[in-house]
Amino acid sequence: MAKHIQAVRGMHDILPPDSERWAAVEAVARELLEGYGYREIRLPLVERTELFRRSIGEVTDIVEKEMYTFEDRSGDLLSLRPEGTAGCVRAGIEHGLLFNQQQRLWYAGPMFRHERPQKGRYRQFHQIGVETFGMEGPDIEAELIHLSARLWQRLGVTGIELELNSLGTPAERRVYRQALVEYFFEHYESLDEDSRRRLEHNPLRILDTKNPEMQALVEAAPRLLDHLGEGSRARFDELQELLADRGVSFRVNPRLVRGLDYYCHTVFEWTTRRLGAQGTVCAGGRYDGLVEQLGGRPTPAAGFALGMERLIALVEEDDPGWRPPAPHGYLVMVGAGARRAGMLLAERLRSAIPGLRLVCNCGGGSFKSQLKRADRSGAALALILGEDEAAAGTIAIKDLRGTHEQRTVAQADLAAELEALREAGVLQD
Ligand code: HAM
Repeated sequence: MAKHIQAVRGMHDILPPDSERWAAVEAVARELLEGYGYREIRLPLVERTELFRRSIGEVTDIVEKEMYTFEDRSGDLLSLRPEGTAGCVRAGIEHGLLFNQQQRLWYAGPMFRHERPQKGRYRQFHQIGVETFGMEGPDIEAELIHLSARLWQRLGVTGIELELNSLGTPAERRVYRQALVEYFFEHYESLDEDSRRRLEHNPLRILDTKNPEMQALVEAAPRLLDHLGEGSRARFDELQELLADRGVSFRVNPRLVRGLDYYCHTVFEWTTRRLGAQGTVCAGGRYDGLVEQLGGRPTPAAGFALGMERLIALVEEDDPGWRPPAPHGYLVMVGAGARRAGMLLAERLRSAIPGLRLVCNCGGGSFKSQLKRADRSGAALALILGEDEAAAGTIAIKDLRGTHEQRTVAQADLAAELEALREAGVLQD
């Protein structure tokens, strides 16, 4: 046998029934987003590398070491998208969706980062992302946060908490950055290798360190919140009031800085302790400077993205008994005449009953083996068509899960019989 080729490390197949659970979660998210007036945008998986350099930031982990970057056959330098915000802004500028308008957009799909794979962290992972443009105040941020809170609620997800911070304006951040650099230089001896490297290019990221030996130092560092001007502080207060009004609880985390450079003012993360080290399920914030930075007119913007793998892990843990909808019926056909009549009958039923889930036996097999397949399919009913039934224009209905007696009915009456069984709750929607 030829050597079997395996999937690329960190990139996963999503098989049934997991794929069905994904689809169910996506359907809930879609319905919720549409209910808030968000419209779907579909974006390419590949963009010019330059786009990510200019948006996420040259000296971020993502751009420095995690992108799948390649030259295509025309010599263009391209990358698989590591996130969706940059592409969404690019598309918005390119198609004139942003200037002097308000937009509420969302997308779903795979993202790619060459990180070290572990539980909850993959090289191909999936996000549902939400981006808004043209809305300045904290009201839209409160909407985004409330929308995500409602999604957890609708999915029955528990044990997930909201952390908030404000990064202020770029000018405020520059002053703060200086104060932070001075502080860390005073404690240079206590910095680990990684932090010394970050000190030069991205000192705010030191606050994000997971190194336990650095915690005390980071804890005592100057706080960005103390460097906010009056305007920034007022906005942040207003957001907190809006959330409190809506009954959304949160914790202000002055060390929340995010790993992408485009944020200003509000940043937030939904985190859980239930997933081990990879506990951030959803994250986002305001990014007012990005549209201009990418060549558009200045446009306020805010959004978030959730990690599907992490969300699904929580959903599965909270509801382990979930099953995808099983077929309503499995059509057993024995003999050539029955096969011909059965296929026609199945198509007639599909036309007559919208939403019917009917599996036809294909590939032959004895009556016994077909009935076994019917049982394994999870179908509620076996619809049995032998040579005798085919000749008589009848069909047998066998209840595979309940206690109803097997009955034989005229084929012409089958659609009505199935409708009646649906009404009686034997066939679930
Ligand atoms: P991010 O924090 O890089 O933000 O990613 C958002 C979420 O994607 C994370 O909270 C996590 O749940 C999931 N995620 C990230 N990397 C991985 C991975 N390697 N494996 C599994 N899940 C992962 C952004 O991407 C921003 N574009 C969010 C945003 C939208 N900000 C404004 N608008």
